[in-house]
Amino acid sequence: MTGLPNEPYRTGAMTTINFRLNGEARQIDALPDEPLIDVLRDVLKIKSVKAGCGPQRECGVCVALIDGTPRVTCGVRVSLVQGRSIVTLEGVSDNERKLYADAFQAAAGLQCGFCTPGLVLRIKWLTDQGHTLSRAEIARAIDGHLCRCTGYVKIIDAVELIQAAKAGGALPTMIEDGGVGHSLKRYQGGELALGVRRFVADIDVPGMLHGAVVLSPHARARVIRIDTTKALAVPGVAAVATARDVPGDRWVGQIYSDWPCFVAEGEEVRYVGDVVAAVAAETPRIAREAAALVEVTYEKLTPVLDPAEAIRPGAPRVNPRHENLLSVTRYARGDVEAALDASAHVVSGVWATQRIEHLFLEPEAALAVPLPDGRLHLYSQSQGIFEDRRQVASVLGEPEARIFVELVPNGGGFGGKEDMTIQAQTALLARMTGRPVRFVLNREESIRMHPKRHPLTMDYTVGCDEDGRLTAARIKILGDSGAYASVGGKVIERAAGHACGPYRMPALAIEGIAAYTNNPPCGAMRGFGANQTSFAIEGCLDLLAAKAGLDRWEIRFRNVLHVGDMFSTGQILEKSVGIEQTLLAVKPAYDAARAEGRAVGIACGIKNSGIGNGAIEYGRCRLVARQDGTIDLHTGFTEMGQGLLTILIQCAVEVTGLPAGIFRPQVNSLFEVGSGHTTGSRATLLAGPSVVDAARKLRADLDSGLGLADLAGRIYAGEYRIDDTTAPGEMKNGKIKTHTTFGFATQVVVLDESGAVQRVIAAHDVGRALNPQQCEAQIEGAVHMGLGYALTEELPCKDGMPVTFKLREIGVLRAQHMPEVRVILVEDPEPEGPFGAKGVGEIGLVPTAGAVASALEAFDGVRRTRLPMKDSPAARAINLGRIPDADRDQWH
Ligand code: FES
Ligand code: FES
Repeated sequence: MTGLPNEPYRTGAMTTINFRLNGEARQIDALPDEPLIDVLRDVLKIKSVKAGCGPQRECGVCVALIDGTPRVTCGVRVSLVQGRSIVTLEGVSDNERKLYADAFQAAAGLQCGFCTPGLVLRIKWLTDQGHTLSRAEIARAIDGHLCRCTGYVKIIDAVELIQAAKAGGALPTMIEDGGVGHSLKRYQGGELALGVRRFVADIDVPGMLHGAVVLSPHARARVIRIDTTKALAVPGVAAVATARDVPGDRWVGQIYSDWPCFVAEGEEVRYVGDVVAAVAAETPRIAREAAALVEVTYEKLTPVLDPAEAIRPGAPRVNPRHENLLSVTRYARGDVEAALDASAHVVSGVWATQRIEHLFLEPEAALAVPLPDGRLHLYSQSQGIFEDRRQVASVLGEPEARIFVELVPNGGGFGGKEDMTIQAQTALLARMTGRPVRFVLNREESIRMHPKRHPLTMDYTVGCDEDGRLTAARIKILGDSGAYASVGGKVIERAAGHACGPYRMPALAIEGIAAYTNNPPCGAMRGFGANQTSFAIEGCLDLLAAKAGLDRWEIRFRNVLHVGDMFSTGQILEKSVGIEQTLLAVKPAYDAARAEGRAVGIACGIKNSGIGNGAIEYGRCRLVARQDGTIDLHTGFTEMGQGLLTILIQCAVEVTGLPAGIFRPQVNSLFEVGSGHTTGSRATLLAGPSVVDAARKLRADLDSGLGLADLAGRIYAGEYRIDDTTAPGEMKNGKIKTHTTFGFATQVVVLDESGAVQRVIAAHDVGRALNPQQCEAQIEGAVHMGLGYALTEELPCKDGMPVTFKLREIGVLRAQHMPEVRVILVEDPEPEGPFGAKGVGEIGLVPTAGAVASALEAFDGVRRTRLPMKDSPAARAINLGRIPDADRDQWH
């Protein structure tokens, strides 16, 4: 008989349950209402079953076969499996496991891999039925599974491969080795597909405690008293931490230290994700029950919810460490008013975009393990483990050297894992108890705590001459950055810099303002402000095309940037400006769809790689040759599904000529390779050259006649530094260079007869595709995110609280909602990037909403200026949950 962990602390009437698991008879004692997922993961150590949204039953990562049928185990009480048979991937034969792992890798059907094991089990069941399903049927069959990374295109490719293999066909050969330009299979792809590679929540440590947070229920209130007495009295509770227990600096933050990891008595809570207390207990259930017993007395205050109100004189101050006006960015050149007056055509309007949720499939988790030598081993899944170390050390009041941080590659980030969530609380409770502590947020906590994509209001006036050539733009942007700075100021800075899109604009006056409010913080999210302004400027281009009597493709072709042109920020572009090639690449499809009589939309996009704007940025690498003939590849950047570790292996292979299989990527603080967050499409741009630098040194040793065995113990250091970018309004060496490089894209959206999106053609200048298949997959996934942004995704709040935590209502598209996506890779090499590459992570969804709006207007003549465009036939064709307008404070 198997019991639950830390058995003495379990209370309530236990029931004995008998069932078969993967062919073996099992008997356990459990609480009858225990979700099956908890028993599988915590008691029986079945880690291929993941936890993503329980008990919502809306993501599919927890699927197991119960009596042969796929069921989401978060929605099944363990008492219901009495006498039944359960199969998980651990119980599938080796041959079959290999088939699924190979098919997913051959098709590049996985990225972060968090959704994949659940899908694999569903697909096993599906393909075991013996039918050959069409792509549309496969998409419908996997409707219960959410994937935030892939856009489902290559998942369906993988299913087709599996169907063919089960019918006697052979899988395509996977690329097991190769340098840049090859579609090398994903590093650890097989282990991810089968759920073998661990995420933080899968790591069990002997003697481990479990954490739970107490979050503020109010967007603004004064904390009068925090009483932990009842929580501490619960059997199995080891510690309850509050602000009083923090030995170091309570305040953390990426740019400003304006975010307390615990809000103290006497202080205000500023949003509904603020942590008031945290509990460590013997089981997750006890921790949560005890957290509910922490008594907090609040004096409710009126929250500041409107950014325009927030920056008015006399508005209540949201954050004690900064005035409500978080940042102002301005770009100006030429006489805008005169240029507008002289323009043949002028359009103006207000475009507005919504707050959305990253909805990475893996909720935040952290594990802190005290080491015998007094250090703390922090397992993190964040987008910057060295930033975690800096902030955790500061909270603990310890030197950074006392914290060893290790990345466990995460189940999606998209910018939402840059800010700290529970790393500091986990570390503090491990210090307080002297025991390992693991925190795993549930979906509601995850959504409440981490920053979102900024809602922006964008007031545009843009002119052009008789020929449709742009003359001037006057643009005002206001962003709601919520309760904490995060990188909100930088996002609005980027929105302002990209406000004119990839177009020449002779005269411009751009102002971007970020404001604090008591709404959830907004920070980094894929696109970093460029998506929002792209929606507005592309709308202006369409309106000007109509006034000038030009085709929409033509007006863009006449205005796009070329080498030698000035970008909005004042930077003269010197190389790798592939926007015109992307326009030419989509032209045949654009013309053909129009000739068919389809409603067709088009939009262009630009997105810088890196932070730029004067930031000094690094990539650092260590290659460590080992006795066993393998080479550890140390980097400080985060793998979060984008394929970074695979790309870095390819860079090392390209330089050294050694086989890919000997490189072992490591992301930890063994070496000082910290390079800041993995953000802004910069990991490949920065880490790639640092690997090349180290690999060249290793190659030199090989060239000197040494063999790999002779190199054992040698460490090769590589570094790449970007220090020549300029802050807005500044010059360096006599020139403005706000950004190192830019990705460019043109996307075409074609609607069907009913106004639903039928296909997307996405042409992208990626500099050089280091791994073409993964590059294409990144863009497909981004298009999926862009379509959701355009049509269905939103996270409205009421009184500062998100009105829903339900995945279907948040509006992320399912496989059956995805149109055909055709990616065209354009390569205009970037001399400052590794082997000509530049970032591709974000640009994939920058133009999408604008292209959808363009197509919709071609369909029904309605120019939509607000996202999501739920009032459109394209959105109505998507059967997802809807949030009633009455449930929200304001439209966003
Ligand atoms: S459906 Fe069970 S965790 Fe999401
Ligand atoms: S690969 Fe599907 S959620 Fe990341």
